[in-house]
Amino acid sequence: MKNKIVEILSSQISDLTKDELAQLIEIPPKPEMGDFAFPCFRLAKVYHKAPPVIAADLKEAIGDQPFLSDIKVMGGFLNFYVNKEQYAGQIIDRYCKSENYGGAASNGKTICIDYSSPNVAKNFHVGHLRTTIIGNSLYKIFEKLGYKVERINHLGDWGTQFGKLIVAYKKWGSKEAVEEKGIQELMDIYVKFHEEAEKDDSLNDEARAWFAKMEQGDEEALAIWKWFKDISLQEFIRVYDILGMSFDHYTGESFYMDKTEEVVRLLTEKGLLVESEGAMVVKLDDYDMPPCIVAKRDGSSIYATRDLAAILYRKREYNFDKCLYVTGLEQKLHFAQVFKVIELMGNDYANNLVHIPYGLVSLKNGKISSRKGNVIFAEDILKESIGKTLSIIDEKNPDIPDKEATARKIGIGAIIFNDLYNQRIKDVIFDWDKLLNFDGETGPYVQYTYARASSVLRKTGNLPFEIDPSLVVDDASMDLLKEIERYPQIVQDAADRYEPSVIARYSMDLAHAFNRFYRECQINVEDVKLKNSRTSLVKITRAIIKDSLSLLGIDCPEQM
Ligand code: ARG
Repeated sequence: MKNKIVEILSSQISDLTKDELAQLIEIPPKPEMGDFAFPCFRLAKVYHKAPPVIAADLKEAIGDQPFLSDIKVMGGFLNFYVNKEQYAGQIIDRYCKSENYGGAASNGKTICIDYSSPNVAKNFHVGHLRTTIIGNSLYKIFEKLGYKVERINHLGDWGTQFGKLIVAYKKWGSKEAVEEKGIQELMDIYVKFHEEAEKDDSLNDEARAWFAKMEQGDEEALAIWKWFKDISLQEFIRVYDILGMSFDHYTGESFYMDKTEEVVRLLTEKGLLVESEGAMVVKLDDYDMPPCIVAKRDGSSIYATRDLAAILYRKREYNFDKCLYVTGLEQKLHFAQVFKVIELMGNDYANNLVHIPYGLVSLKNGKISSRKGNVIFAEDILKESIGKTLSIIDEKNPDIPDKEATARKIGIGAIIFNDLYNQRIKDVIFDWDKLLNFDGETGPYVQYTYARASSVLRKTGNLPFEIDPSLVVDDASMDLLKEIERYPQIVQDAADRYEPSVIARYSMDLAHAFNRFYRECQINVEDVKLKNSRTSLVKITRAIIKDSLSLLGIDCPEQM
């Protein structure tokens, strides 16, 4: 409908583009003011006329339109009254005709998403929880839009820190302790290494030597490294299982061990590599960036080298249309450097590499328990959320079936929603009382709305899907239909901006519109046509709530 209004306005106004017109069009604050309003203030300067005069001229020129029941001049605005029955009919039609409403069929394009990517032998902390949640949501969104998505976990499983860990393990560790305490033990001996190395610098030499052995394929070194990696991976996968998320590739940094030579060779051939203080670097002064180090003094690769190798590999292997990287904002420079080097190598796909940063996580003091010191494990937070939800259920509705499974969906949903409700670049605060509030702007609130819709349908039983548009033109139903109409555009916006919050916000709006409809429109009525129409609206809404939450990575319980 909005597009139709844009078309009509565009045929009368040549000074603004369709996009500009679309942006100007507003939804009036009250239903008696119509469905859309076009402010004429911007045109005043162009036409040298007062806005109300322009509005009146436009009304005259537009005349009668079949899909509009009225056009009114209101101050400097031109307000459009849509023919509701026709409008409702169109929205329903569009919904019914589409098999994957808001989505698209396969478009043959591939998107690589590099996300989560925790570091081996380090805890899976709350920051990694954010990249995991955001990356997973982007995967769902692009998949819905018809892309083939490669979900890549670029584990931090290579680098000098593993030399240090091997030394630490040999000196102060034990098989039993590592087996018993897992990552916590690896972190403890790593800290111990740094303490001891302060006093005795030769430990650093030993560590470098062990990493060099790893790079040369030494069996003993690689066996210990692999063991540490397996232990870490087990813990990471536990977190992914709780979240219900998975990956297509666990190709961590070590995967590029034998692929960094190519990077050095290509850069040398192109004359991009220069020596600087013993290291080999690509100068980026012309782009106001520090040089990108490609090889250290001893020839070993670094984080950036492995990222360069990964890009070449992914382009060859997946021929991606885009490759996205979801990490904290602090890696902004790193990716800017790496992408620039790829561009300087002559790869035109460099501008299809996109860094997707996000803000920090802060914890309301003392509200999250941690195993030790300030180290906060994602797993503990997830479990705490599920536990707290279980107590809320026990208090509110102890008799629902599948209590454990429901608590899991809600507890995890609350954390994901809290993470995705604000723009990703904003910081996230963990505040249990807020994020688990069933009546707040929370995941549980939207899930509750879904459960309510399910309960309505359980009560009305099996009715045919049938909507008579003339019976859903009251304000509450129309508002709900307008939300339904917006969904495809919402999904597209979220993808264009790599911004899951667009969907989270929408799911909240949809839930509000539904709850109003539920209050104002009795559903289980005598009149069969009206009853069918209203339950059908419930069915559509319920399906879209479920779909929108699934794009965030949230499951819906049928009862709560
Ligand atoms: N392991 C890194 C970290 O924890 C994130 C890796 C991101 N991906 C990449 N290709 N660099 O900070």
